[in-house]
Order: sequence, then C-alpha cells, then structure tokens
Amino acid sequence: MNQLATSMFSIVEAWFLAPDIKLLKIQAPLIARKRKAGQFVIVRVHEHGERIPLTIADADPGLGTITIIVQGIGKTTRQVNLLNAGDALLDVVGPLGNPSDIRLFGSVAVIGGGVGTAIAYPTAVALKEVGNFVISIVGARSKELVIMEEEMRATSDELFVVTDDGSYGRQGLVTDMLRELIEAGRSIDHVLAIGPIPMMQAVAEVTRPHKIATTVSLNPIMVDGTGMCGGCRVLVGNESRFACVEGPEFNAHAVDFRMLAQRNRLYRSQEQAALKKFENWLQYALDPTPCCQLEKEHPEIGPRSHT
Ligand code: FAD
Ligand code: NAD
Ligand code: FES
Repeated sequence: MNQLATSMFSIVEAWFLAPDIKLLKIQAPLIARKRKAGQFVIVRVHEHGERIPLTIADADPGLGTITIIVQGIGKTTRQVNLLNAGDALLDVVGPLGNPSDIRLFGSVAVIGGGVGTAIAYPTAVALKEVGNFVISIVGARSKELVIMEEEMRATSDELFVVTDDGSYGRQGLVTDMLRELIEAGRSIDHVLAIGPIPMMQAVAEVTRPHKIATTVSLNPIMVDGTGMCGGCRVLVGNESRFACVEGPEFNAHAVDFRMLAQRNRLYRSQEQAALKKFENWLQYALDPTPCCQLEKEHPEIGPRSHT
C-alpha cells in the first residue's frame, strides 16, 4: 500500500456481520461529508486490482468515515473481506451515482434481499427522516444471513424478517410478505427493492398489477463509474441508460432484467478462473506446505505466484 492510500483510506473498524459479509469503516472524510443516501464508491484494493462498486451504507462526517458492507462472492470482494482495521484500500472514488429519490410518498415498503439490505438501509433512513411511514421487509436464505435487523428496526415503523428456510422470522421470500401486505389491503404508496436480480424482478411483478410505483437499485458491471466505458449499460423503457451516472436507481417496471442478468454473466468463466486462482493462492499463503514432490525437493522455487 502506498503512503497516500494508507493515510487516506485506512480501515478503522472491520467485522463480519454474517458468513462472508463484512462491514468496514474507512477513513474517507471528503466522501463522508458529501455522500447522500443511494450513492456508492468505486474501490481498488491494490495497484493491480480491479475496480468494484460498493454502496455507502453509512457515513460519519464527524469522524470522517464511511461504512461499506461487502459480500465476498468473487476475487475482489474476497480480497476486501481479508482486510482488517489498520489495513487500507488503495483508492476509493466517490460519492458516485445519483442519490435516492427522497420524498414524502406516504407509506413506503423498503425491501432488502440478502446483502441488498445494507444497500437499502441508508435510503430507508432518509425516507423515514422526511416523514414517510416505513415498512421494511428483510429477507435472507437462513437465520445466520440476516443482516442489519436492529438498524432496520430502528428506522422502520414496522419490520418483517423472512427467511427462505423458516429458521428465523416468517418462512418465505420477501415477495410472499409483500404480497400478503398488499392483499391484506395495507396502503403502500411506494416500494424500494434491492437485492438479487431475480428478487427485484419478482418484486416488480408483484407491484405491477397494483400500479404501485417501485424503485430498484441495479448492480451491473461497472468499471470507471463516470459514464465513459459503457460497462454499466442497462435497458430501461427500451432506452440505454448508464447506471453509474443515470442510476443506480430506476423504475422497476421499465427495467429489462433479462438483459441485466445476461450482461452480468458475460465474464463468468474469467471471474470463476480468477477466483479459483486466488483461492489456491490463499490456501497456500495460509498453509505453505509444499504441494508437490518438486516443491518438497526444491524449496528454493518458492511459493506459487499470486496475481
Ligand atoms: P466477480 O469476479 O465479479 O464475480 C462475481 C461472480 O459472482 C459472478 O460470476 C456472479 O454471477 C456471481 N454471483 C453473483 N451473486 C452471487 C451470489 N449471491 N452468490 C454467489 N455468487 C454470486 N456488493 C456488495 O457486497 N455490497 C455493496 O454495497 C454493493 N454495492 C453495489 C453498488 C452498485 C452500484 C453496484 C453496481 C454493485 C454493488 N455491489 C455491492 C456488487 C459488487 O460490486 C460485486 O459483487 C463485485 O463487483 C463483485 O466483484 P468480485 O471480483 O468479487 O466478483
Ligand atoms: P440471496 O440469494 O440470499 O437472496 C436474498 C433474499 O432475496 C432471499 O432470502 C429472498 O427473500 C429474496 N429472493 C431471492 N430470490 C428471489 C426470487 N426469485 N423471488 C423472490 N424473492 C427472492 O441473496 P444474497 O446471496 O445475499 O445476494 C445478494 C444479491 O444481491 C447478490 O446476487 C448480488 O449480486 C446482489 N447485489 C445487488 C446489488 C444491487 O445494487 N441491487 C448490490 C449488491 C449485490
Ligand atoms: Fe463505465 Fe458506467 S461504469 S459507463
């Protein structure tokens, strides 16, 4: 890590909220002062690392810190999740993207699926602050994957937790809970849904027949985050939009989710290969026992290279 990065983007706190989901507080005073709910940063762990977008889950302008919550699903997110207090990120660019549309809608359902809950949280706070009645639905596959429950409870008028396997809260998907509320005649003027693409699409289909305005935060591949590379192109209402500068939030009823999912799969084999190589390196770094006869006989050849 270079000196500038260490002093600017050092990690002051880090802990796991759930298996593979880590919260990190990072020194980034300018971003902490400027950021608004719904915005994100693009980070790089090291000089040869890729740039990945992460939502600013919270910020403390007084302490000059921002909070990110990272699900380790590929090489770079796992690299981030290996970092601890005292380490640093090489660079953190932001705040990027448009802030969430914060208005007095009336009654708003905020839906977080898995790590999407961390992304929905700052917007839920802002929606509550302007006087909305906030009904939150937090979904996870099972109990140990439920995150931010207390934070969401503190900013919601009502909170429902659902798990796919019924190990905590009610059993079912977030859409089951939403459907139940709508069918019970609860007044819902606006829905915000953030999580896996199939979840956001399913929420859109639940609200569409009831004409409930629904916003989703899209997660396409991003590179520069400034509208230059085209990586984050999404189709909304049959028009090409760049999620980094025109989003990431869009009208769920106009989003082409199929195309988003297809584009996110474009580099899957390369992503899987990079992750496998990284996991091999990591296993060796943690347990540098020679892996083959050649290494046993020739320890001078050293550890396998890390890319
Ligand atoms: P990659 O090498 O890119 O590989 C990802 C692979 O994981 C792909 O093959 C994909 O198909 C697969 N995959 C996707 N979902 C899952 C899953 N649930 N389980 C297993 N595999 C899966 N992520 C966060 O964790 N926190 C955030 O706050 C956050 N905010 C974001 C904000 C924006 C605006 C955007 C666009 C994305 C955000 N993301 C966030 C997603 C994050 O940027 C990506 O997860 C990250 O870029 C992946 O990089 P990687 O190198 O670790 O994985
Ligand atoms: P997950 O697969 O565990 O799903 C979380 C919850 O979402 C489930 O418990 C369920 O209630 C709901 N859900 C999932 N699929 C559904 C469907 N088809 N219909 C109805 N409800 C459904 O989620 P995870 O493993 O925590 O992953 C989070 C996902 O969020 C990742 O796929 C990641 O790519 C995505 N993500 C999205 C954003 C964004 O900005 N939208 C940002 C980061 C990550
Ligand atoms: Fe490059 Fe949006 S990330 S144009």
